[in-house]
Amino acid sequence: MAIDYSQKIPNNVDLASNKTLQRALEHWQPAYLDWWNEMGPEKSQTAEVYLRTAVSVDPSGWAHFEHVKMPDYRWGIFLTPTEGEKKISFGDHKGEPVWQEVPGEYRSTLRRIIVTQGDTEPASVEQQRHLGQTCPSLYDLRNLFQVNVEEGRHLWAMVYLLHAHFGRDGREEGEALLERRSGDADNPRILTAFNEKTPDWLSFFMFTFITDRDGKYQLASLAESAFDPLARSCKFMLTEEAHHLFVGESGVGRVIQRTCEVMNELKTDDPVKLRGAGVIDLPTLQKYLNFHFSVTSDLYGSEISSNAATYYTNGLKGRFEETKIGDDHQLKETSYKVNEVANDNIGTIEVPALSALNERLRDDWITDVQAGVDRWNRIPEKLGINFRFKLPHKGFHRKIGMFADLHVSPEGKIISEVEWAHNHKNWIPTEEDRLYVHSLMGRVSEPGKFANWIAPPARGINNQPLDFQYVRFS
Ligand SMILES: [Fe+2]
Ligand SMILES: [Fe+2]
Repeated sequence: MAIDYSQKIPNNVDLASNKTLQRALEHWQPAYLDWWNEMGPEKSQTAEVYLRTAVSVDPSGWAHFEHVKMPDYRWGIFLTPTEGEKKISFGDHKGEPVWQEVPGEYRSTLRRIIVTQGDTEPASVEQQRHLGQTCPSLYDLRNLFQVNVEEGRHLWAMVYLLHAHFGRDGREEGEALLERRSGDADNPRILTAFNEKTPDWLSFFMFTFITDRDGKYQLASLAESAFDPLARSCKFMLTEEAHHLFVGESGVGRVIQRTCEVMNELKTDDPVKLRGAGVIDLPTLQKYLNFHFSVTSDLYGSEISSNAATYYTNGLKGRFEETKIGDDHQLKETSYKVNEVANDNIGTIEVPALSALNERLRDDWITDVQAGVDRWNRIPEKLGINFRFKLPHKGFHRKIGMFADLHVSPEGKIISEVEWAHNHKNWIPTEEDRLYVHSLMGRVSEPGKFANWIAPPARGINNQPLDFQYVRFS
C-alpha cells in the first residue's frame, strides 16, 4: 500500500478511516515536535539536510532523497503490508492465525515490550544531540542526521501501536516516551546503555555498529511476533536500521584506514607518535570496541530467563529468523549451551533451550558483530600491518547476568579485583584516552573535506560525489 503524504501524518495504515485514532496521534504530533526541538540535534533546526524519505514500503526503491529541514521531515506510520493468511510460527499458538488485536491476557506484557523498544529510539537521538557541532565532514553530518530522523520515526512506529491498540494506557505511555531523558537522574531512559553518553564521533560509530545492531536483533525477533501490527512495524524499521549499521561499520573502518595509512607513512606503531600525528592508535580503537561490546551485551539480559521463555511460549517474541530454523519452534525438548562458572573457571553447560533465549539472541548478535570485525581486519591486513581486532570474552566487563559480580579478562579468565584494577586501563578507554579522542573533535563543514583522523568514504550517498553539499546551512 502506497504512503499517503497528503495527510498531516503520512501513513500507509489508512489512518483517515479511524478518526479517533487520527485525532489522538495528531494531538501527540506537536508534543513530538516539541521534544525534537528541545532534544533533537543541537543547532540544526534551519540546516537543509540531504535526507532519504520512504515513498513506499516496497522493498525496491522506497527511498527518495532531497534537501529538507529536519523539523519538516515527514515522520509517519509505515508498516510492511499484510501477507495474506499469516500463521503464528512458534510457541504454544503455533499454526493459529496471527493476531490483529492484542489478546487481553498478553496486554500488559506486550505494552511493556513495545514501550521498552520505543524508549531506545528517542534515547539515542538524545545521546547524539551534540555531535553535529564536531562533525568530521558534511557527509558524516548528513549520516548522523539521517540516523536521528529515522530513530525519531521508529518512535512514531511504536507510539502508533500504543495508540491504536492500548487505549488510554497506550496514550499515557506515548506521552511518557517524550518525557524520559537519556542520562537524567530523576527520569532516565529505561535501559542502561541508553543512558550512557555518546560524547564523540568514535563513540557514535561504535554505537551504530554495535548498539544499533542490538536494535536489529531485537527488531528481528519482534518481527516474528504473533501480534501482527508489531511484526509488520518492526519489519519496516529493519530496512531503515541497515543504514545505521552501515554508518557505524564504515565509520570505524575509515578511522582504521586512516590510522593504518599514517602508521605506514611514519613507519611506526608507537601510540605516542601516532597521537602526535593526530590519528587514533589501534589499541585505543580496540578499547572502544571492548567497551561498547560489553555494555551492549548487557542489553540482552540474563543468560537464563523465565521472562524470555514466557515471551516465546506466548508467541510475543520469536528468535532471530525463526522461520528459517529447522526445529519444532516450541523448544519443548531441545537444549542450548550457556556459560557456567565453577571453581573460578568458565565452562559451558546445556540448559533447556526455552530458558536460554536471551543467550541465543546474544550469540546471534555476536556472530554478526564478529563478521563486521573480520571485515575491519582486512584493512590492516591489506596495508601490511600486523594488528588484528578481537572481540573480548562474553564475560568481560559485564553488569548483568552471571558475570555481573565477577571480573573477567578479555581472554575469558576470571581475575581478582586487584588484577582488574591493574589492567583495566589496557582494556577499556581511560579518561586520558577519552580526552585525546575528544581533542580531535573539531567541526569540518567544507564540502569534500574530512577531519585528519578519518579517511574519506569509498563513495558518496545516493551516488553523489564526496564534495556534494550534503548539508546546507542558512
Ligand atoms: Fe531504531
Ligand atoms: Fe538505529
